Amino acid sequence: MIENLTPPATPDALKQARDDFPILSRTVNGKPLIYLDNAASTQKPQSVIDAANRYYSHENANIHRGVHLLSTEATAAYEAARKKLAQYLNASDESEIIFTRGATESVNLIAHSFLEPLIKPGEEILISHMEHHANIVPWQLLAERTGGRLRVAPIDDNGNLELDACLSMMGPKTKLVAIVHVSNAIGTVNPIEAIIAKARENGIATLIDCAQSIQHMRLDVQSMGCDFAVFSGHKMFGPTGIGGLYGKRSLLKRMCPYQGGGDMISHVTFDGTTFKEPPSRFEAGTPHIAGAIGLGVALDYIESIGIETIRDYESQLIEYAVNRLKSCQGVEIVGNPDHRSGAISFIMENAHPHDIGTILDTDGIAIRTGHHCCEPLMNRFGISATARASIALYNNSDDIDALVDSLAKVRALFG
Ligand code: ALA
Repeated sequence: MIENLTPPATPDALKQARDDFPILSRTVNGKPLIYLDNAASTQKPQSVIDAANRYYSHENANIHRGVHLLSTEATAAYEAARKKLAQYLNASDESEIIFTRGATESVNLIAHSFLEPLIKPGEEILISHMEHHANIVPWQLLAERTGGRLRVAPIDDNGNLELDACLSMMGPKTKLVAIVHVSNAIGTVNPIEAIIAKARENGIATLIDCAQSIQHMRLDVQSMGCDFAVFSGHKMFGPTGIGGLYGKRSLLKRMCPYQGGGDMISHVTFDGTTFKEPPSRFEAGTPHIAGAIGLGVALDYIESIGIETIRDYESQLIEYAVNRLKSCQGVEIVGNPDHRSGAISFIMENAHPHDIGTILDTDGIAIRTGHHCCEPLMNRFGISATARASIALYNNSDDIDALVDSLAKVRALFG
């Protein structure tokens, strides 16, 4: 079958997007930057950069602690960002959004504050074989502390989750199903609706790792029906060091604090402390105020284009990229999932992924190479590393063509 190699047309709403990201006009090794490492971190539009600058130049003060104008303005801007996230995710209330440092800290928070008090020796946490280390290691540490058991749903040779096996692994001992929505390494989009539905039927809590989906598709936590969803701001055009979690209010209210400190307490005496309601209970200490405000502006940016427009365009672009790479001699794509978003991993005969990445860099092309924080997934495919190209809303077919041209140079060098 001849694959469709027609480049997708860029919708009007996205035509100017490249100009909104100042870094995309720089050169790398004398060549125009072609940024295809978006699963690691996305670039920032000028509006997000300006928001951090504006905060530090005009509003900088601590939040929730001052009666003076700067503190009031900073508090309003920080809480407005929480409201935007709640709206973006269709949470039923903004108190269901907790700011954290990112998806990793969110998973650790849920492990500590939700699951640790509940799980008993022999009870189970179900994850999948394609998880990022951030959705493996916190559960291993928890299992060691509690006598709980980590179970792993298998994937097939194409990198699809084996759904029937996954569903059949949910039983009376399962306390939590923690599954990635979109694989950071191979781009698989998991059937989270079926997983959440089965878990709910069985009274099992669910956590969805949305770090690689929130910037590519509409997420509606109420229609998804999950108990928790985690994400990172820097992968959705926001600043680094900020991210968050959505948690159902009924669960958050029952959870113990994650860290102790200022701003999360109601009253403190030397005999004991009472805690604020969520979200404050989980936000000890001065948070990343500029980061949260910047994340809110990143959401404004996404919404100004439209997440559906982004999703439709990116799904055509990723299909184009897959087909171009398939037709590229010497390139083998790792994983051929039924549904893909964002990322494509590949290997080349005779060229180590780090060599591929280094040669591409000389052409100004940024990709990620290595195990992508997914060593068990790499082991499943019998490899130690891949080269990975991952897209965002500002990429286009010229970027993919440049990648393919540069891979031809790799092949010429390594045979
Ligand atoms: N999780 C990020 C990635 O996939 C860092 O590159």
